[in-house]
Amino acid sequence: MYRSNTCGELRLTDKGKEVTLAGWVQTVRKFGAITFVDLRDRYGITQLLFGEELNPQLDASPLGREFVLQAKGVVNERSNKNPNIATGDIEVLVQSFTVLNKSAIPPFTIQDDTDGGDDLRMKYRYLDLRRNAVKKNLELRYAVNRSARNYLHEKGFMDIETPFLIKSTPEGARDFVVPSRMNAGQFYALPQSPQTFKQLLMVSGYDRYYQVVKCFRDEDLRADRQPEFTQIDCEMAFVEQEDILNMFEGLAKRIFKDVKGIDYTDKVERMSWEEAMWNYGNDKPDIRFSMKLCNLKFPAHTFPAKQSISSLIDGAGFNVFDAAETVVAIAVPGCSEYTRKQTDELTEWVKRPQIGMKGMVFIKVNADGTYKSSVDKFYNEEKLKAIAEATGAKAGDLILILAGAEERTRKAISELRLEMAERLGMRRKDEFKLLWVLDFPLFEYSEDDNRWVARHHPFTSPKPSDISTMINNNPAIENAAEYLKHPYANIKANAYDIVLNGNEIGGGSIRIYQRELQEKMFEALGMDKEEQLHKFGFLLGAFEYGAPPHGGIAFGFDRFCAILGGSESIRDFIAFPKNNSGRDVMLDAPATIDDKQLNELSIKVDVK
Ligand code: AMO
Repeated sequence: MYRSNTCGELRLTDKGKEVTLAGWVQTVRKFGAITFVDLRDRYGITQLLFGEELNPQLDASPLGREFVLQAKGVVNERSNKNPNIATGDIEVLVQSFTVLNKSAIPPFTIQDDTDGGDDLRMKYRYLDLRRNAVKKNLELRYAVNRSARNYLHEKGFMDIETPFLIKSTPEGARDFVVPSRMNAGQFYALPQSPQTFKQLLMVSGYDRYYQVVKCFRDEDLRADRQPEFTQIDCEMAFVEQEDILNMFEGLAKRIFKDVKGIDYTDKVERMSWEEAMWNYGNDKPDIRFSMKLCNLKFPAHTFPAKQSISSLIDGAGFNVFDAAETVVAIAVPGCSEYTRKQTDELTEWVKRPQIGMKGMVFIKVNADGTYKSSVDKFYNEEKLKAIAEATGAKAGDLILILAGAEERTRKAISELRLEMAERLGMRRKDEFKLLWVLDFPLFEYSEDDNRWVARHHPFTSPKPSDISTMINNNPAIENAAEYLKHPYANIKANAYDIVLNGNEIGGGSIRIYQRELQEKMFEALGMDKEEQLHKFGFLLGAFEYGAPPHGGIAFGFDRFCAILGGSESIRDFIAFPKNNSGRDVMLDAPATIDDKQLNELSIKVDVK
């Protein structure tokens, strides 16, 4: 028997017990003739006390950090208790010990505030994983996994595995491909998601499917993106959007309850994509705080239903606003006393290349109701007051205004809104707010190819009321500059995203399940009949054999975990993640393969 107890288990009630512990040496402290060792395992830390009589053995074989140690002894009440750890009332008086394995000096300290930088910790990930902070993240991940599985099982979902060696499933990224030895010159693609398989399972009658599944996407990486990541992937047959929203906000709420002990009883808010863009400049708004945008000027075709208020700023001789396509403001609460230095710093912030603005205008709504702005020359007190009222600013607020091209300006103000909220402590890590974003456009226009691309994926159905627009119009775009006037630009998708604290943690849609409509969709995306059959003949074929109406969703499992754990970086919640260049620095992968392997695969490498 290697151990009778774990290092997190013993309490005062165990006093006098003979125990055997095994674990890693966290610290060794020598006080005269006696030595204290903190022994660590997955469950905690227990203090070991080595008396004078063990000194000869310790001298002969000194203990070092991360040595694997087995110690036998008796549980004793500590004189100097440590209230910070669960085993802090006791220690084990060691009677005998064995070094099970030695350790080289670790390249960084295995503790919460480690001295190891990111790269070093990634290289020695197996040591990093010993740290409590990382372990807690993996425990949280497992708790989310269990909670999701329990919920889905109770609701009658069945976990069915789908293959990894497949043909491309488009989700908007590039495929990772795998050469086939037995089929020279041919390649499998790794799934960007199990999308088509889960739809085929609906055709097969498995009306509630789920899978906690790896997906592979060759795309630019960011803190919330990995080339391989995990989805909680789900699909249901005989459902409408409302059924899906209810079922899966139930799943999110169950996870909050099981993992964080939070009773999320509020109905999850819903917002159309257009309202999200209008009010927040973003299709995944953080609604823990308000600070909504005030659209002082915008291109009419972008928000056809909205009234223009540009008369508030037009014609004052301020060329920046007059020349801009879009002018948009936020009122930042309680910041009217910002100094010149602070507003200058914010201006520099919006000028950074990531934000890309040329400048920023501010209006201070002073506590006494007067106004001070960076555009006093052009706007008198009365005009400033009118603008301030439109933004909803109160006395004491600071209005920040950006002007420029629609897309860039909207994105920039949305970033600025988040930044200000972050600075004001409005993005609390312990507050969680879910949101459904609905009614996305079905298509996006690709300037590069002068054609439509699917905003979600090609299997998403249009809103029932838009089906006739889709069927009865030719998708070809005659005049690229006026693509927004094409009827396809206004077709809305039967799709939904679930957003948590400003992060898209899941997305899905009601699917097309009729062959004709699916063919029309492929045609709209620029695929001729031949290509359709070559790429998706299996799916079109399946739709001939009684495909039921169906729809589903996939949660970004890593992202959901990261946000629950209070981090923006999903890497912290993946046992063996890749770095931002897609490399596993521990394995040193990707790597070249030898000529023999290349020959077997009939591949010649020609690196440019
Ligand atoms: P989608 O592409 O929106 O939908 O993906 C679902 C969710 O997966 C997460 N996600 C990622 N997480 C980490 N790294 C990535 N590279 C990454 N890409 C996406 C996001 C996202 O919301 N088949 C559809 C789902 C469906 O229609 O049912 C799909 O994959 O949180």
